[in-house]
Amino acid sequence: MAVQEILTYPDPLLKTICAPVTELNDDVQSLIQDLIDTMVAAGHSVGVAAPQIGDCRRVAVVNVSHSKLGRDNNHGLLVMVNPEILEREGCETMREGCMSVPDFTGNVTRARNILIQFTDREGRDQVIRADGFEAVAIQHEIDHLDGLLFLDRVSNLKTDVFRRKNR
Ligand code: NI
Repeated sequence: MAVQEILTYPDPLLKTICAPVTELNDDVQSLIQDLIDTMVAAGHSVGVAAPQIGDCRRVAVVNVSHSKLGRDNNHGLLVMVNPEILEREGCETMREGCMSVPDFTGNVTRARNILIQFTDREGRDQVIRADGFEAVAIQHEIDHLDGLLFLDRVSNLKTDVFRRKNR
């Protein structure tokens, strides 16, 4: 287990479409642990996806339970291998940030409710429904697995992207 360095925009690895995991072996378990360690070490982070630490496999972790927006409505720590969104409902615009885009935030419109399928770290297939901030975080992390950053999702780069203060 180890905290890994976060790649930042415009690193080309962040534009890679990640490959599905075919076997939940020790190597994948070690990637999962690195993602968790890196998310925890970042303190404010609510999710990390494998390409952010330089690994192009479809694995991401999300945990919004310690955040103001997500603490009342969440599934705790989600370890998602090969996650896939089965259904989307509604839409909601929220200000997003990303450790790979440290100097900016952006307004992104995403589905409010999602039904998502993935394999967990014990190898069990899971189907869960998520909404609100947790749903946003999951969609953001799955985007990373498809080579997309929130910058690719804002409708207008001039009016919907904001420079962070105090950095
Ligand atoms: Ni991100």
